[in-house]
Amino acid sequence: MLLESGIKEGWRILDVGCGSGEVSLLASELINGKGEIIGIDVNAASIQIAQTRAAEENVTNVQFVAMPIENAAKELGTFDLIIGRRILMYLPNLFQAIEALTKILKSNGRMVFQESDAMVAETSATTFPLHTKAQQYVWQTVASEQGNIHIGSEMYSLFTKAGLKVKNLEAEAVLQTAETGSDLAWLLQMMEERIIQAGIATKRELESLEKALTEEMDKSNAVFIRDMNFGICVSN
Ligand SMILES: C[S@@+](CC[C@H](N)C(=O)[O-])C[C@H]1O[C@@H](n2cnc3c(N)ncnc32)[C@H](O)[C@@H]1O
Repeated sequence: MLLESGIKEGWRILDVGCGSGEVSLLASELINGKGEIIGIDVNAASIQIAQTRAAEENVTNVQFVAMPIENAAKELGTFDLIIGRRILMYLPNLFQAIEALTKILKSNGRMVFQESDAMVAETSATTFPLHTKAQQYVWQTVASEQGNIHIGSEMYSLFTKAGLKVKNLEAEAVLQTAETGSDLAWLLQMMEERIIQAGIATKRELESLEKALTEEMDKSNAVFIRDMNFGICVSN
């Protein structure tokens, strides 16, 4: 999606909800370190990890700042490209956030976002009952935190409603097999505290599910549809 956005050396780029900086660093690579990238995230611990990563990789044109998206429009100037991965789903006032970002987009600027969608959460239920259960724990937790679990397929309407022109729209199914393995056990561990806090599953249920996932995958001889990722590129 970034390559198809026309990303160029010299561009000023904002990565919103950058987390530990993976997408910002990818953007820096794509512009050969020429240009400026600012990654912002409300989580100061993630920003620290991103800063350490950039220092370790000797990347000097990316700056990571602990800041909520809501402040970006006031404090950071204007950008040729605004990017974000798995961030829109967490924003309570999403339409206002998009409108605010639109105001700091330079003329003929671009926005590129990639977001997931829970639409495939039960597609593999017959062959993969345990993987499906794990997948549902994840989405139920996000939904209980007021996350938008259908943001992927809703982006088109949202961005066009904000007056932006859609240049590219893609969706990609993420497939997992015995050869690729599944990241669901890892994800359950990462989200353990949130899942338990939301009352979706207990620690014991999670641990026994995590153990059983590998066996289910190895015995399945089938394809598990893990996720559906939507990507959108818009311009003003
Ligand atoms: C699923 S992570 C994605 C991180 C990164 N974009 C990636 O793909 O690796 C979502 C990130 O959004 C951040 N976030 C959530 N609400 C935010 C807000 N209002 N302003 C800035 N960051 C926010 C979280 O702290 C978290 O790091």
